[in-house]
Amino acid sequence: MFVPLSKPYITNDEKKYVNNVLDSNYLALGPYLKKFEESFIEFTKSKYCVGVNSGTSALQLILKATGFTKNNGMIVTPFTFISSSNVAIYENGHPVFVDIDPYTYNISIEELKKLIKNGNKITKVPYNEIKSFMGVDIFGQPIDWDEVYKILPNNIDIIEDSCEALGSEYKGKKTGTFGIAGTFAFYPNKQITTGEGGVIITNNEEISKLCRSMANQGRGDSMEWLEHVRIGYNYRLDEMSAAMGYAQMKKINEILLLREKVADNYHNLFKDESRIILPKIEKYTTKMSWFVYVIRLDLNWISKFIKIPNWVKEFKVSEKIDKEEWKKLIYKIKEIHKLFLKKLNEKGVQSKNYFSPVHLQPFYKELYGYEYGDYPITELISSLTVAIPFYSNISIQEQEYVVLKIKEVLEEIENEISYKA
Ligand SMILES: Cc1ncc(COP(=O)(O)O)c(C=O)c1O
Repeated sequence: MFVPLSKPYITNDEKKYVNNVLDSNYLALGPYLKKFEESFIEFTKSKYCVGVNSGTSALQLILKATGFTKNNGMIVTPFTFISSSNVAIYENGHPVFVDIDPYTYNISIEELKKLIKNGNKITKVPYNEIKSFMGVDIFGQPIDWDEVYKILPNNIDIIEDSCEALGSEYKGKKTGTFGIAGTFAFYPNKQITTGEGGVIITNNEEISKLCRSMANQGRGDSMEWLEHVRIGYNYRLDEMSAAMGYAQMKKINEILLLREKVADNYHNLFKDESRIILPKIEKYTTKMSWFVYVIRLDLNWISKFIKIPNWVKEFKVSEKIDKEEWKKLIYKIKEIHKLFLKKLNEKGVQSKNYFSPVHLQPFYKELYGYEYGDYPITELISSLTVAIPFYSNISIQEQEYVVLKIKEVLEEIENEISYKA
């Protein structure tokens, strides 16, 4: 059996609506784009929505619309998809990283407090000022917004990268709505897909107008075709994608329920498996929209093969760690992680290491000189986490197969790797 990591959930409605577009004269900027945008206004109770061609474009346009500029700093975690952080560089500013919480994988409130208190002394980035905060709701789980609001000064623009969390709720309120503007993304592995696509949601009319204009070559309010009032881009969402997205949004609640059921099944199937840690849902997450299902190899299990100090097992990693020793330890853990992924993929269970630390990507190392030990919790968690097959219509047989193979791989590793002295 082969079980893919993700699969889009497409029914007849999507085909019907896309065909309607093909039978019409409007392949761009037509009625489905409007319907798609309106479905987000209704779903999130936001005032405005702008459809664009990707989640990345959506994030970049918000930065531009809020005046983020050269040498500005943008707070973000290094445990995310690269574009959450890259958009600051696109605008000639800099990501200012804050490490994550080892249980939710979202921004660490303690580390955020430290950054605000100590300023740029603890980062390597040559920024003038922190202009923005990019709050990423990782894997669908909201960040602790109340705490973030308590810490951040009023002059910082809060942007919500909710690209992975369409439909999640923090204390009863939908994600995407916690900042001055928020985004969702629709690559085929997301809760809903348009092939490629994204949206910006906001209650701020000025931001929505600026984003709409910049996504459409800087055209003015009249959208006169050859009148360009500012620099703009072609970040438009085409009509076929919008039609598909509209069909998907019509069944969003059904999709979220299906995904919840899949997550529940995994929870039950893994119930007696102590060698892996399951995703932790915080109390404040009153609704979880499952993007991926990410399991974590338990450090206690790994310590059967590698000597791991207790302070590491407890995630009490101090800033004063010996960076060379730390790198060696992470490399050793990663060897087991890699072997786990390799074996699982060989058995037909497609799995990936979600996420790889952004600060250790080659061009970040080159640009800023980052190294192992700079964001140790991100590095440690990245060396343990594995996204396993997860999609709306995965069958229970497929899920059982995934869990069986994971257990098999754990056994094999135990038999193959000699125990430490
Ligand atoms: C957290 C996060 N931010 C931004 C994006 C970017 O979205 P896109 O791939 O549509 O550009 C993604 C997509 O994977 C994401 O997961």
